[in-house]
Amino acid sequence: MFAQFRADTQVCPYIGQSLRMSLYDSLDRYVEESRPRFEEWLGRLVEIPTVSMDPARRNDMWRGAEVAVGCLTSLGAQATIVETGGYPLVVGGWTQDPAWPTVTVYNHLDVQPAMEPEWTREPFKFTVEGEHYHGRGATDDKGPALTALLAARYAAEHGVRLNIQFVWELEEEIGSPHFAEGLAKAMNFRKPDSVVVSDTIWLAGGRPAAPYGLRGNLAARLILETARREAHSGLTGGVARNPLTELAAVLAACVDAKTGRVTIPGFYKSVRPLGKTDRAQFLRSGFQVKTFAAAHQLTKLRVRDRMEVMKRLWAEPTFEVHGFVGGYTGPGVKTSIPPRAEAKVSMRLVPAQDPAAIFRIFRAYVRKLNPDVHVEAHGMLRPYVADLGGPYAEAVRKALRFGFGKEPAFIREGGSIGAVVTMAKRWKVPVMFLGLSLPEHGYHAPNERFDWGQASGGMKAFVAYFDEVSRITGKTQGSRTA
Ligand code: BES
Ligand code: MN
Ligand code: MN
Repeated sequence: MFAQFRADTQVCPYIGQSLRMSLYDSLDRYVEESRPRFEEWLGRLVEIPTVSMDPARRNDMWRGAEVAVGCLTSLGAQATIVETGGYPLVVGGWTQDPAWPTVTVYNHLDVQPAMEPEWTREPFKFTVEGEHYHGRGATDDKGPALTALLAARYAAEHGVRLNIQFVWELEEEIGSPHFAEGLAKAMNFRKPDSVVVSDTIWLAGGRPAAPYGLRGNLAARLILETARREAHSGLTGGVARNPLTELAAVLAACVDAKTGRVTIPGFYKSVRPLGKTDRAQFLRSGFQVKTFAAAHQLTKLRVRDRMEVMKRLWAEPTFEVHGFVGGYTGPGVKTSIPPRAEAKVSMRLVPAQDPAAIFRIFRAYVRKLNPDVHVEAHGMLRPYVADLGGPYAEAVRKALRFGFGKEPAFIREGGSIGAVVTMAKRWKVPVMFLGLSLPEHGYHAPNERFDWGQASGGMKAFVAYFDEVSRITGKTQGSRTA
């Protein structure tokens, strides 16, 4: 009698009818048993300094790709390296039956530089302290990549009828310049029915977020040279042009330092006002200014009004100065005039700002302000916004509820992921976000970390997501970019 009862029609007590008991029976045990393996592979990946913007790390990029292939194959997945004109992609997974739906899982394995003086450990040495995993790239984005991978293996080995193909990028942190080329070159990589990206951040610990939009980005360097070498200011001061002073003036003309309002003429022309739905989603998100400021260790803010803060973070453009290079930086004051200066800036963009158009007005404006400043673009990423709702959003909701006992807030986020826009445009399929990072994990910050709570809950969430998505059929909503 019981033997006839089909396991896959039983009801999962946690989340209702849709989940099969047979799939979930041994999941908790699998997650616990996966821990040593997870830690071992995360350690291996973190200890390779895959800093995509540092030319000195060039060899490490391929070493990272090879270790990633080893990780996939040791778990029973197929895997290959796809070369591009830049750093390669790693693609692989379990593609078992062309009749089943296919999901593409996106993560990146390149990381940001780790030169901040506040690091209390070696950034590229992996350390486990209880539940915490320390090292550059632990949360952005190596930990989430391995979490999704271990979940995919479980799903593939426990009868989830879904093809799961991973794409791991090694140029995300420099704006994904060869991502489209890599996808085009990847053999056996088919057009998926949907994409899931695990590279975003929760509102706070215990408060999952699933973005339906990201900001775009336009990065640039401003370079000004006024002499061939440094000169004594007693001998040349008053006559020699000072590149640091002049660049400071250019920057001051681009943004109001107090309010953050961008003062490049025409910059806001195509910015759309915040929609009703966005506003409602933001309001009900549970975002808290205090928690936000504490997680990022911000000691002073421009504004404190909750709605104003969310709007500025997720739906308004910015102009930031990231670095100002030149002159004397040693102890004391050396009274010389520097020969050159450089400013590193970027602008976060929102729908419907076009990065190329913004770059043109920015360059023209800088030329007008100071014709000797050389302006160089460093990556242009479009903003992204998708439709809210639909079966894939429902799958994300169920998955996070299953993995963490909490439903996500559907909001927009302020960061940028170039590959997202590329995939949405190329395949015109839903691109969903199942991020696992917490604000206090420190994206790009000193003492970056990930933790087992997010990894173990994340594995369960991903298994539930794969299960849900395997049963979505028919024509579904697309996604749009702005
Ligand atoms: N994971 C982030 C993107 C992100 C940040 C999403 C915050 C959601 C919230 C990604 O790795 C990243 O840092 N992207 C860069 C891209 C840039 C260098 C072109 C970014 O946003 O600065
Ligand atoms: Mn990332
Ligand atoms: Mn990043």
